[in-house]
Amino acid sequence: MHKILSFLFVLTGITGLAQSSAGLALIPLPKEVIRKEGIFTIDPNTQIRVADGAQVLQPVADYLAAYLYRAAGLELQVSGEGSKTNEIEFSLDAAISGAEAYRLEVGPERIRIRAKAGAGAFYAVQTLLQLLQGEREGDTPRPIEVPAVQITDAPRFEYRGMHLDVARHFFPVSFIKRYIDLLAMHKFNRFHWHLTEDQGWRIEIKKYPRLQEVAAWRKETLIGHYSDQPHQFDGKRYGGYYTQDEVREVVRYAAERFITVVPEIELPGHSLAALSAYPELACTAGPFEAATKWGIFEDVFCPKEETFTFLENVLTEVIELFPSEYIHIGGDECPKTRWESCAHCQALIKKEGLKDEHELQSYFIRRIERFINSKGRQIIGWDEILEGGLAPNATVMSWRGIKGGIAAAKEGHKVIMTPTSHCYLDYYQSDAEGEPLAIGGFLPLEKVYNYEPIPDELTAEEARFILGAQGNVWTEYMPTEAQVEYMAFPRALAIAELTWTPREQKNYADFTARLVRHFDRLDAKNLNYSRALFQVKAETRPAAPGSAAVVFSSLDPKAEIRYTTDGSAPGPGSPLYTAPVSLSAPTLLKSAAFQGASRKSSVLSLQFEPHLVTGKPVVLADPPSPNYSLGGPQALVNGFIGSDTRYGDSEWLGWAGKDMEALIDLGARVPVSQVQTRFFNGPGQWIYLPRAMEVAVSNDGKKFKPAGKFTNFPEQSRDKTFAAAVSFKKNTKVRYLRVTVRRHGIIAPGKQGAGHEAWLFVDEVRVK
Ligand code: ACM
Ligand code: ZN
Repeated sequence: MHKILSFLFVLTGITGLAQSSAGLALIPLPKEVIRKEGIFTIDPNTQIRVADGAQVLQPVADYLAAYLYRAAGLELQVSGEGSKTNEIEFSLDAAISGAEAYRLEVGPERIRIRAKAGAGAFYAVQTLLQLLQGEREGDTPRPIEVPAVQITDAPRFEYRGMHLDVARHFFPVSFIKRYIDLLAMHKFNRFHWHLTEDQGWRIEIKKYPRLQEVAAWRKETLIGHYSDQPHQFDGKRYGGYYTQDEVREVVRYAAERFITVVPEIELPGHSLAALSAYPELACTAGPFEAATKWGIFEDVFCPKEETFTFLENVLTEVIELFPSEYIHIGGDECPKTRWESCAHCQALIKKEGLKDEHELQSYFIRRIERFINSKGRQIIGWDEILEGGLAPNATVMSWRGIKGGIAAAKEGHKVIMTPTSHCYLDYYQSDAEGEPLAIGGFLPLEKVYNYEPIPDELTAEEARFILGAQGNVWTEYMPTEAQVEYMAFPRALAIAELTWTPREQKNYADFTARLVRHFDRLDAKNLNYSRALFQVKAETRPAAPGSAAVVFSSLDPKAEIRYTTDGSAPGPGSPLYTAPVSLSAPTLLKSAAFQGASRKSSVLSLQFEPHLVTGKPVVLADPPSPNYSLGGPQALVNGFIGSDTRYGDSEWLGWAGKDMEALIDLGARVPVSQVQTRFFNGPGQWIYLPRAMEVAVSNDGKKFKPAGKFTNFPEQSRDKTFAAAVSFKKNTKVRYLRVTVRRHGIIAPGKQGAGHEAWLFVDEVRVK
């Protein structure tokens, strides 16, 4: 018995080592890593040898040589012959399955890289570079040690993407190359370049010079957040564009790194900048100007022949510049208001026998698809292209959740997953104080990491249509390169791993252990990544009635967590956290991680306001969306108040298309005078205030009596949150409370998210 157990233990131990990171800081985690004895030393005499397949392998070998020269001053000879010891050997192996797969063997005598194609060899090199110990760009020549290892690797998904919006803010070619280098380092193979928007047109089109002269520029830019009122502007002309030479340079640079650049030309919506240059392409006469603030604009391309001619000419130049199989044509967020009152649009609807403006959008997309297909390319569109019927060959980028992706896959269309809930890297990544202004939301690293691109709703057959996933970086609130880096990293690395690593091998704790060491590599590149990982984490637990306990933790084993309960910022002299902090009175609890006298994280604040039902049992008729239920049902009554700006934290619960009904058991009949709660208001994220909050009371939990109702919700509000209360008659004694919140329902035309169910977000239900 004992023998069998220990035998099993040994087996599991070996498998565990083989399948996990084996103590190496590799991101994304390869399929199989086996650590071996010894090291290989790259020194000035090491030779890089391309044994065969020089045509495809030579450029990769040269890339490695160039890196080693830059990073360690080592000028290695690259040749077809050699001594077969002290060498890095590249060879083709037709037996390896898949162009992106590879084998990398590091032994004391040599390093061997085997692949079927250049891509696999390139990924082997990226893995090798992550094995190098302690090189720094610009160092003087010196040997580099590589631990002995045997790695067999291949990606899980064929589409592994990162996006960048260069329209809301513009970034020079030097930064685009840096971004591409960072993607290549983590084995991404697609760069989705979002080139056109309401706020600016960023690609030179020779046939239409006014796109450069006019559409590439906006008069000024919004200061602060869109929801800050009144709007203020900086008064500075802003813009820029990439010349076709620059575009070719970027495409070539990316191709050398096995990254395909997928250009996006937005149509029919998000096209205001183009209309500012060519107003005749709109439904109304104009004049138009490029948008100076964010959002959705009603002036869009009018589906007239002139517009199709323009777009086909634009796309002809785009297709010549970009070898990508896929051309992204946008298709998202196109208001139909202008089309509804445009004589041409209405006549076209009649003539084509279309049902409505959604079908007119599909007509628009289908015509563009036909054109792009005629050039041997395929379209990708945001999931709105499903609405009036999909174009026959379209690939869908599912962003408004995963429903669009599921529907498209079930129709046999290819899908790329980019749901806002897990892939929008413009959302906040930390709930700490002092985060730079972001669009909203809350998407911590762990939530990105745990995203699974294949929805449970799909059969194995349908799941094959999910090509992969992508992180999106919209730059409304990222005016600088440093800020793009901050928002994109390290969350992009979670996207890298979830698209590359086999699902069974993903493990967040292992990922973060590797990441903490990988940060040294990112430091060597002076990358401005977020340190939110080192943030103190707080978990709240119910304690005695009316009180709570807070458990703090940090991923950093060296961190000392210190906290205060008087609202002051924690310092090196503040109490050291050693055991759960008990709270029973209103408290502003602040915490941060320290190492000696220096603070290593930003400050985390938790506001505790106990009330009559704090910690009492609560049952929800419908669970919140799994994407917005971090704190579980108890979050409604745990005494902790949600963030004023971030609805996705563990205190807010979110529902889509459902009312909230919460049943709270007070344990005994007690006098109650008021029920109060707070709702989030974020039209940009389709979060709208509810219609009504109803409170009913009961003594047996079965028969309920209405006790009051609040319906005075504003139709529009500039505030991010709205508090509503229901007050009771004096001396109402209650055992059970039922709080029902009637959702907003379908969003009205003309509003953000029109036609869709609004989200409902509810904070603490406070009872007095
Ligand atoms: C999008 O975020 N409008 C695709
Ligand atoms: Zn029109």
